[in-house]
Amino acid sequence: MTADLVIVGSGFFGLTIAEQAATELGLKVVVLDRRHHIGGNAYSEKEEQTGIEVHRYGAHLFHTSNERVWDYVNRFTTFTNYVHKVYGVHKGEVFSLPINLATINQFFRANLTPGQAKALIQEQAGELAGTDPQNLNDKGIQLIGRPLYEAFIKHYTGKQWQTDPKDLPAGIISRLPVRYNYDNRYFNDKYEGLPTNGYTAWIEKMAEHPNIEVRLNTDFFDDSHEYSKDKVVGNIPVIYTGPVDRYFDFAEGDLSWRTIDFEEEVLDVGDFQGTSVVNYNDDDVAFTRIIEPRHFHPERDYQNEKTVVMREFSRAAEKGDEPYYPINTAADRERLLKYRDLAAAEKDVLFGGRLGTYKYLDMHMAIGSALTMFDNKIRPHFESGATLE
Ligand code: FDA
Repeated sequence: MTADLVIVGSGFFGLTIAEQAATELGLKVVVLDRRHHIGGNAYSEKEEQTGIEVHRYGAHLFHTSNERVWDYVNRFTTFTNYVHKVYGVHKGEVFSLPINLATINQFFRANLTPGQAKALIQEQAGELAGTDPQNLNDKGIQLIGRPLYEAFIKHYTGKQWQTDPKDLPAGIISRLPVRYNYDNRYFNDKYEGLPTNGYTAWIEKMAEHPNIEVRLNTDFFDDSHEYSKDKVVGNIPVIYTGPVDRYFDFAEGDLSWRTIDFEEEVLDVGDFQGTSVVNYNDDDVAFTRIIEPRHFHPERDYQNEKTVVMREFSRAAEKGDEPYYPINTAADRERLLKYRDLAAAEKDVLFGGRLGTYKYLDMHMAIGSALTMFDNKIRPHFESGATLE
């Protein structure tokens, strides 16, 4: 087919645009992805030995308070009533996270009321009161006091960034949530759950429309196929959700990212840690956390003899690594402004998604921003000839 619209990337951003363009406007859409599978980083599959659904690019928990996004995603999947909770190991003891009254009372071996706990943390945070913290370490102490900061934030953050928090900019954190009650739900959103039949079933349903053709193992920059950059730009409108620096051949320099190495292991026990995510808050272990995916779906009939776990190691991405979290240094921000100017000048190409905008986006944000782009730019272009910019 000859496409009316070419979309680079089959993640949630690209597929939301594809689905809307096909369903709402009857357009013929070609979606390219250089990976062998659809769905971008939300892709999941069954682990071979256990049949347990694993999220190939890190744990993905769906949550949103956006009514439009919630209505939209429910057209493609139902959701389980999974509620995300996280625990953390510090000095051989397990604590409830994010820091809440249970964490505080266990840590200080106390029986504090919410008011007493608040007064205690304020007193401890007072150590650096009135100063202007110049690094993440001082900022952390100023926000929640030294004892809790050093137990739960300092080493974990150090491992995430592979850098001593004293050498990290204070601006990485603006607040550290502390709850003065026993609520240990990880997310505060109105809606939360996991797709009942898994992410891949949800994602495939989004691409089901007969006007949508998905071409896997197809790189936009490889000119051996008919929808490559050279052939398409200027002829067919493009929605590009790959890395913005790559699009412009890194002309303004590379944007920096953190990546994660996953060490996956099948264990001969039915249940390794009793919950889906356990953080390791100290620096005596190199990994940041262990994910045990079977606990994402307690309602499923998984076998009881084996389980699968994934240990996560965080580091700066090098060329060829998966880019996961924007590092966002001052140099990155400067480069990004230049790339934004270049992107704005690129006729009939729109940049979106987490790689195209160099922004960490949760799934609901990627979907929400794709719906907005569709309403504000794509529909007006195809219905009334508005320029695509
Ligand atoms: P996404 O990265 O998914 O898709 C982009 C696609 O473009 C990829 O498939 C890529 O192969 C393709 N592509 C790039 N260059 C190309 C080229 N040249 N040619 C062809 N194809 C190309 N969110 C959330 O709500 N809850 C959560 O718990 C988590 N957890 C989480 C963990 C980790 C480790 C990360 C990194 C991210 C999350 N997220 C998350 C965020 C979630 O992954 C994110 O919202 C979506 O991936 C965004 O979808 P996009 O379509 O923008 O990008």
